[in-house]
Amino acid sequence: APGNPTVCGLPLKYVSLVTLAVQNAALSIVMHYSRVSTPPAQSYSPASAVLLNELLKGLISFFIALARVPSVSQQPWHRMSFSQILGALPYPWTPPFIALCADVLSADCWKLSIPALLYVIQNSLQFVAVSNLPVASFQVTYQLKILTTAAFSVALLRRRLTSSKWVSLLFLALGVGIVQIQSQTTREHAVGSAHDSAPNVMSPLKGFTAVTLACFTSGLAGVYFEMVLKGNNTDLWVRNVQLALFSLVPALLPVVYASNTHSHPFRNFTPSAWATVAIQVLGGLVTAVVIKYSDNIMKGFATSLSIILSFLASVALFDFHITPSFVLGASTVLGATWVYNRPEGGEPLLAIVTIPG
Ligand code: C5P
Repeated sequence: APGNPTVCGLPLKYVSLVTLAVQNAALSIVMHYSRVSTPPAQSYSPASAVLLNELLKGLISFFIALARVPSVSQQPWHRMSFSQILGALPYPWTPPFIALCADVLSADCWKLSIPALLYVIQNSLQFVAVSNLPVASFQVTYQLKILTTAAFSVALLRRRLTSSKWVSLLFLALGVGIVQIQSQTTREHAVGSAHDSAPNVMSPLKGFTAVTLACFTSGLAGVYFEMVLKGNNTDLWVRNVQLALFSLVPALLPVVYASNTHSHPFRNFTPSAWATVAIQVLGGLVTAVVIKYSDNIMKGFATSLSIILSFLASVALFDFHITPSFVLGASTVLGATWVYNRPEGGEPLLAIVTIPG
């Protein structure tokens, strides 16, 4: 069915949710590594990374939108080879190309300026957060997004939340609090080990402030994007191009400002910096698909799964120590996320076990 596309026979809805979970786990690890592996003086500019991210997402979305213009997509484009797609794409100034540009610049495109600005702020805050917090603490605290997303869904999308969902949200906040206690110990560890070599002293207060603000922009921007997207049937990829276009101005400003003081905007772009940008681009595109075929609340569930993945990876990669408070906090967060995402009107847990007869 057109409303339920598939990838290799699997529903796109589930493929995108699983991809997002893996992407989230990979992003916080690679991003953290890219920031702390070099001394601050030799590290790349987050502003340039944010700009690059928006540019690439915009370009990719534009090509996908182009491939979906009716006269181009007579053959399903995911069945075509790359060169076939390139050959079939309309050249500039041909009617399909102009029609797409007209769609992008339609009268309501300004609506995307709000989530665009919020996402640029969020993507910049994320760099501050991952540079100042251990990977797992960042991931778990970022779960507060579920709380802000719920609040904005109620306010903007007029969703109603049952009392069990509000209770699970309280537990979510509690779990996040427990994990914060754990990070105090990690801070001493990080400062101690940074003493003799790289002066990458992490500042949990700065990190937690950044991640809390990012949770607000994430909730508001995500719900706002969902509202605009589901408000009419403009193509998702056209919406993404509009989002990227409006992101360019706020993303470009800090790069231009910094270029007066620094030599080259892409100085110190190590392989891990490029990998960070690539994973972010993938994340942005998959997030858009998740918002379209599921919603922001399901997105929260997918990303909470990524905590387990990134936690296991940081134990192996960063000598991260499991403390009882981390286990307690993380399990509370996961349990709350699970209760929150149980289908409405589902059977109470104990009622599943019924005695026939
Ligand atoms: O953490 P959260 O799920 O809110 O992050 C969403 C990410 O996806 C942001 O980095 C944002 O820039 C990106 N995004 C996007 N296109 C959309 C929606 C989100 O690139 N349509």
